[in-house]
Amino acid sequence: MTTSSNSSVQLPPLAGLCSFEEAQRAELSVERCTTWIKRHHYLLVRLHEMLTARITAEPVYELKMAFSLHAHLCAEHASAYRQRVGEMREPPLGLEAVPHEGLKLLCDEVLCSPSHIELVVGIYEVIVPALIESLEEYQAKTNPLADAPTVRLNRFCLLELRDMRAYGARAAKSLVDVVSRERLAPWIALLCECVAYSGGSFLAIGRGDGISEEKPPHPSPLPAEPGRGDKTGVPSSLSTLNPRPSTPAPHFSATPFQYDPVPKRDARFADSYNAGVNPEAFLYDERFAARDKVLMMLYKRLREIDVPEMMASILTQTKGKPWKYTRDMTRQLWDEARHAMLGEVGFVALGIDWSKIPINFTWSLNLNTQLEPWERHAVLFFIEQGLMPRTGKRYEWEVGQASGLPLAAVIQDFDWADEVLHAQIGREWYVKEFKDLHEAMGYGDRCWTKVLSHWRAYVEQGLTEHHNWWPEIYEAACQRWGITPDPLALAYCTTYESIRADLADISMSG
Ligand SMILES: [Fe+2]
Ligand SMILES: [Fe+2]
Repeated sequence: MTTSSNSSVQLPPLAGLCSFEEAQRAELSVERCTTWIKRHHYLLVRLHEMLTARITAEPVYELKMAFSLHAHLCAEHASAYRQRVGEMREPPLGLEAVPHEGLKLLCDEVLCSPSHIELVVGIYEVIVPALIESLEEYQAKTNPLADAPTVRLNRFCLLELRDMRAYGARAAKSLVDVVSRERLAPWIALLCECVAYSGGSFLAIGRGDGISEEKPPHPSPLPAEPGRGDKTGVPSSLSTLNPRPSTPAPHFSATPFQYDPVPKRDARFADSYNAGVNPEAFLYDERFAARDKVLMMLYKRLREIDVPEMMASILTQTKGKPWKYTRDMTRQLWDEARHAMLGEVGFVALGIDWSKIPINFTWSLNLNTQLEPWERHAVLFFIEQGLMPRTGKRYEWEVGQASGLPLAAVIQDFDWADEVLHAQIGREWYVKEFKDLHEAMGYGDRCWTKVLSHWRAYVEQGLTEHHNWWPEIYEAACQRWGITPDPLALAYCTTYESIRADLADISMSG
């Protein structure tokens, strides 16, 4: 690193940020940087939107979880850029505007894609790589000292976007075969045309944004570009695409996006209407041992997949809220996905095949199809606030501690901390709409009571027999622990027929 000529000490100059050469870059003004940042912000917001909108109806559990994480990451980075734009002599205005029609079409196409095959290709092979290239280009062009706050945000954003790209590459390897690629080639070309139309992945330095810099001409037309070394059909560098003169024609987005509120699960989730075992009644029964109760807590954790499925519906169907609402609710959504995965980890640690347990989905199904988004939020708050007293999350942590299973204690410890945060998020975005907490809780209770649970009807319709899965799982755990099952615990057969999960009489959540 070059040092200042009259420096008497041999320390890195410029706080170690960059060299003197780099600090002399004078290409990008505040105005141009802001325009460029707004494009990155737009793509992050749209990524958040398309990931969230697909969580509920995505059947593959791992994708459901990954979409929850990636939606959260995009919401966090979008928040950071919003704040940064506000620091650049710009009131935080224009952040909701569409910065370029090409980017809009790109995002609309992926949002409207018919299955997770197109979705994975569109998000992880086109949009995320385009965003990465654009951020890298920004880093190479901006003055790293003058624009240091943006450079710092970009570094963090790049780190997580590269993680997302890597995840997507592994997902695509598993989900997208050669036949699908061939079928999708024209559509992938369309997405690349959208990127090209918006100025290549130098996103801000293209046409239509008042920024005059010309892109270097590139001789290769789009479809002839070689793939990313693995025949994905996506050019290896999106920044080298020839700019297009006009908007490409929409394909999937010719029909507006329709959110599917019905939760879907993959083949590992059998008998999803089964409510034949009530874990809460077991958990709060003093006759049972803490170690046995851990199994019920792990089941409750894994069952929390229904919370992202439900919260995704609130986020997708609630319009006109401030961005902070989206950020907070998405953080909570991701926490609930983590809780589900912590339950999965608990079962893996015990050597128990969790796919043998029916993971009920009627909570997200019934809320998403019977209640309005605001009513769903009310139920969520009612249940989560109910977890705050001594019999709630603290109790679960105490059970974990008493169980002699350190992992169970850690899972419940962090679960409890997360739930305290969720109660705060609820007070911010739900309770404030009421006169007081009491009124807010009353409304939540009424909404929850409104939800029909159809316990008998599910049997009559042949959807489930509410098979008691508990003895088999309990025996497997006892075998693993090398103990004889407690006969009373083994005989446990309380269902959800008459007892609601919050013990007021029926939560599937928490
Ligand atoms: Fe929660
Ligand atoms: Fe939770």
